[in-house]
Amino acid sequence: MKQLLTVILAMCMPVVASAAGGGGNLDSMEPDLSDQSSLQRGAQIFTNNCMGCHSAEYSRYKRVAKDLGIPKELYEQNLIFTDARFGELMKIGMPEEQAASWFGTAPPDLTLTARVNGPDWLYSYLRAFYKDESRPHGVNNAVFDNVGMPHVMVNQGGLCAEPPHIGQESKVDPSTGEVVGDDICDDWAIEGSMEPEEFDRAMYDLTNFLVYLGEPALMDRKRIGVYVLIFIGVFFIFAYLLNREYWKDIH
Ligand code: HEC
Repeated sequence: MKQLLTVILAMCMPVVASAAGGGGNLDSMEPDLSDQSSLQRGAQIFTNNCMGCHSAEYSRYKRVAKDLGIPKELYEQNLIFTDARFGELMKIGMPEEQAASWFGTAPPDLTLTARVNGPDWLYSYLRAFYKDESRPHGVNNAVFDNVGMPHVMVNQGGLCAEPPHIGQESKVDPSTGEVVGDDICDDWAIEGSMEPEEFDRAMYDLTNFLVYLGEPALMDRKRIGVYVLIFIGVFFIFAYLLNREYWKDIH
């Protein structure tokens, strides 16, 4: 019995040892793929603000609509702006070469960006734009230095006059007694239509959606994982009873 328990414990070990990736000076975000309304809001922000330049051409509209629980008609009317059909890949019309000459770099496809850069990086990057007149678009980014992307969410999120506080825990300044690093931005060059917390929430939803986009099967995997664990639990009972039956006459 002891041996059996040891084996079972050993089998559980890899589940406990999950990767703990530290991300330097970044704000952290914990994706939640079970929060369907967050994913829906993220999809809306992505379509309205990002798909003018970025494709997500390894995903299909149909799959996204199904996974996010958005009815076909609603999706077609509100979240497809090109003449693409529901079953098609999420491509865009902007020719890559022209885009490269407009922006210096062609806007990359974003299907896998959350897997390449990680959710913390994305969430920080989207909130890290600040005013910099020396740059072609008049903005720079505290997480991606000299970025070629304009600050497309400036109307909603506003624009910081200096590099915003990303990845800084709020702490009390000993000389003044004031809390520092609490607000993302000390001084706004442009005020956004959203409150900073509201904008953070929107960028959380957008990042959450991009995490889903990079690994749509994660939702299914989590669901199936639960069934597998239940199965193992039930199986253990029978294995234990059988084990007891085998050894009954020997002891
Ligand atoms: C006006 C065009 C345009 C729009 C709209 C736009 N981007 Fe970009 N984006 C770019 C360009 C150009 C780059 C390449 C920047 C570079 O490499 O310097 C880029 C780069 C990025 C990157 C970095 C990818 C990497 O790994 O290098 C991310 C992430 C990103 N964009 C996300 C977004 C999101 C999310 C939105 C919507 C809120 C958005 N972009 C809207 C033009 C755009």
